[in-house]
Amino acid sequence: MAVLKAETIIEAKKLYYSYPGEGEASSPALHGVDLKVDQGEYLALLGANGSGKTTLLKLLNALLRPSQGEVLVKGISTVEAQQLELVRQTCGMIFQNPDNQIVATTVEEDIAFGLENLALPSKEIRRRVDAVAARLGLTHLLQHPPHLLSGGEKQRTAIAGILAMQPACILMDEPTAMLDPSGRFEVLKTVRDLNKAESLSVIHVTHNPAEAMEADRIVILERGRIVADGKPKEILTDLEFLHKLGLQGTVAAELAYLLRREGLILPAAIMRNRELVESLCLSEQIS
Ligand SMILES: Nc1ncnc2c1ncn2[C@@H]1O[C@H](COP(=O)(O)OP(=O)(O)O)[C@@H](O)[C@H]1O
Ligand SMILES: [Mg+2]
Repeated sequence: MAVLKAETIIEAKKLYYSYPGEGEASSPALHGVDLKVDQGEYLALLGANGSGKTTLLKLLNALLRPSQGEVLVKGISTVEAQQLELVRQTCGMIFQNPDNQIVATTVEEDIAFGLENLALPSKEIRRRVDAVAARLGLTHLLQHPPHLLSGGEKQRTAIAGILAMQPACILMDEPTAMLDPSGRFEVLKTVRDLNKAESLSVIHVTHNPAEAMEADRIVILERGRIVADGKPKEILTDLEFLHKLGLQGTVAAELAYLLRREGLILPAAIMRNRELVESLCLSEQIS
């Protein structure tokens, strides 16, 4: 087994994946992906539909096994059959539809579900459920049936269930796609706070540039290959590159791009609304 530096949580090496039944002629869903994610890193994963984002998360969580190459989660290879549960505990996964993740009849049971499968003593289960519920502001909902919660509360319950397993990393596959703006904000704030306060690593698949902008780092997939890996500011303001991939920059970056085309002189790196407003006010004062 390869020895990794302590701070690397995930390492994908020359990772290829072809779905069973894909013809020889069709290209694999993942095509030589190399990726390292450190402890405490918040990474946004972008890419057009079909670019391989979900496939990559499933490989990192050992839901799928590499066709070639390997994935190490805290140094453990996902092809080691005995280690699968440990890999899944270390890298928990949150899916798009919170309804599909609910398995129990109360929030409390739902959060405890994974722990029951770990065969922990009931006192320890109680302690962990209470601790994560308090951490995520769910204590008052513990006895509620999950199907009566708002979308944001359901997603936070799913996150609580993962957190109770004490993971090093959370993988989120478009976790806010089905939520309204307040639910989206609630979920993002929860995860960002956990990332900062507890050094939890996060890989967040999103189509929303406003969400990706808050990450430490952005990785873009195109047809199974990594085509960009850098800071949000570099990537989300390079609109010609994003547009070629069928993606968009932030609203402010898109507006600045159009205004520049109309002849306005604006700085290149406008990503946030505030930056656009300040640049426009400044150009107004100058003229
Ligand atoms: N279960 C599957 N069987 C066969 N092909 C699949 C399956 N799931 C995804 N694919 C194919 O793999 C590629 C990557 O898909 P996916 O990882 O779901 O992309 P994304 O999440 O970026 O939209 C696509 O070409 C898709 O059609
Ligand atoms: Mg997907």
